[in-house]
Amino acid sequence: MASPPWAGAASHEQFFVLLTGANSGVGLGTGQRIIDEFLASRSLSSHLILIPTTRSVSKSRDTILSLRAHLKKTAKTSQQLRSRAGHDYDPQTAISRVHILSIQVDLCDLRSIYGAAKQLVHGTVSDPTGLVKDVKIPRLDVALFNAGIGGWSGLDWILFAKQFLQVGLVQCCTFPVFKKALPAATLDQKKLLGDSAANLKTPPPELAEVFCANVFGHYILAHELLPLLSTAVQAPIRSKRITDLLCLTEDLPTVQKVSSPYFSSPATADKPIKPRFYLFHPGVVCTPLFPLSWLLYWAYYAAMYLARWFGSPWHPVEPYLGACASTWLALADQDSLDELNAERVKWGTCATRSGRVMPKKAEVDGWGWEGVIENARRLNATLLPGPCTSFGAVGGTPRT
Ligand SMILES: NC(=O)c1ccc[n+]([C@@H]2O[C@H](COP(=O)([O-])OP(=O)(O)OC[C@H]3O[C@@H](n4cnc5c(N)ncnc54)[C@H](OP(=O)(O)O)[C@@H]3O)[C@@H](O)[C@H]2O)c1
Repeated sequence: MASPPWAGAASHEQFFVLLTGANSGVGLGTGQRIIDEFLASRSLSSHLILIPTTRSVSKSRDTILSLRAHLKKTAKTSQQLRSRAGHDYDPQTAISRVHILSIQVDLCDLRSIYGAAKQLVHGTVSDPTGLVKDVKIPRLDVALFNAGIGGWSGLDWILFAKQFLQVGLVQCCTFPVFKKALPAATLDQKKLLGDSAANLKTPPPELAEVFCANVFGHYILAHELLPLLSTAVQAPIRSKRITDLLCLTEDLPTVQKVSSPYFSSPATADKPIKPRFYLFHPGVVCTPLFPLSWLLYWAYYAAMYLARWFGSPWHPVEPYLGACASTWLALADQDSLDELNAERVKWGTCATRSGRVMPKKAEVDGWGWEGVIENARRLNATLLPGPCTSFGAVGGTPRT
C-alpha cells in the first residue's frame, strides 16, 4: 500500500472530508469553498483530504480536475493566503496541502452503496487522474451528504401565474407551488438488490427513486460508514424534509430508543464517539437540479437574482455562495457548534442583496428554529422574509 503525500503531517493536522454528489451544482461549489476556507483558516501545516463522490469514474476524473484548477487559482490569487504566509509565500505550498481522491456511488443502487462504504472502511481509495494511488482512509472527520434529485418534470404555468399575482416575485421564487412532480418512479429490484432479489420468498418493499436518492441511500451510507465516522468527532450533514425530522430529533430522549440501534454495530463497539448530525440547506441556487430549456433556465436565473435584489434572504443563486452554510458547519470547531446548540437547528445560506453570504438558522415546519414552535411562530411574524444582516434566524426554509 502506498504512503500518502500527507503521511508526514501529524494525525490531528489531517482533515478527511467525504462529499457526495460533488460533480455539479452545490456539491462542486462546496468542494471549492471547503478548499478555500480550509486554506484560509487552518494551520499552515494542516492537510485537507477531500473525497468527492460521483456516479462514474469519468465524472470523478472531471471533478478532480475542476477542483484542482480551482485550488491552483485560489493559491495563486488569494491575498488572504499571501498575507497569512508572509512575503516568501509560494502557491505550491498551499497546493501541496490539498489532496483530492474520489470514489463512485449511486445512491439508488444498494450494492453500489455497500460497495463504496466497504471500499472506504476496509479497502483503499485512489485519485483516478493517477496522482495518488491506493491509500487507506483512517477516519472521516466530516461527511457532507449533498447528492440528490429534484423529481420534477416542469412548470404548471397556471399555478405560477396565480401564485405570482397572489404573493409576488420573492415569495414565488422562495416557496414555489408550481413545480410539477414526476410520477413516483420505483426502483428496479434487481438493480437495488442484485441477483439475490429473485431468490427472496417475500419481495422487499418497493423504493421510490426520489426517496432513495435523497434520503434512504444516505441513511444506509452513513450507517455503513460509522466505523470511520466514529473515530473522529465530526459529523454527517445533509438536507431534505424527512432527513430534517430524522436528524433534528434523533437525540431526543423519546426518539433515542429507536435511533440508538442505528448508531451501534459490531464495527463501532470499541468506538465510543457518536457522530454528530447537522442539517443545512444552500438557499435557492441555480443548478441542473431543475430541468429547464436554456431559455427558461436564463429566465429562471434572472428571476432568482431579481428576488435577491427585492430583498429575499434565501437567494445566494450561485453554487459557490450557496455552499456557505455547509462549509461553515464542516470547518467550525466543535465548541462553537455546541455553544450554538447547532445540532438542533437547520442552517441555511442567507445572502444579502450584494451577495454577501452567511449561515443562518432556518425554520423547519413542525420544529421551528430550535424545536420550540412557540418561538418560531413569534419570530415568524417579525422575520418573514426577513433581512440577512447578522447571525440569527430567518423565517421559512425555501422550497426546492
Ligand atoms: N439548487 C437548489 O436551489 C437547492 C436548494 C435546496 C437543496 N438543494 C439540494 O442540494 C443538493 C445538490 O443539488 P444541486 O442543486 O446542486 O443539483 P445538481 O447540480 O443536479 O447536483 C445533484 C448531484 O447529486 C448527484 N446525484 C443525483 N442522483 C444521485 C444518485 N442516485 N446517486 C448519487 N449521486 C446522485 C448528481 O450526480 P449526477 O451528475 O451523476 O446526476 C449531482 O452530482 C440536492 O440534494 C438538492 O436537493 C438544492
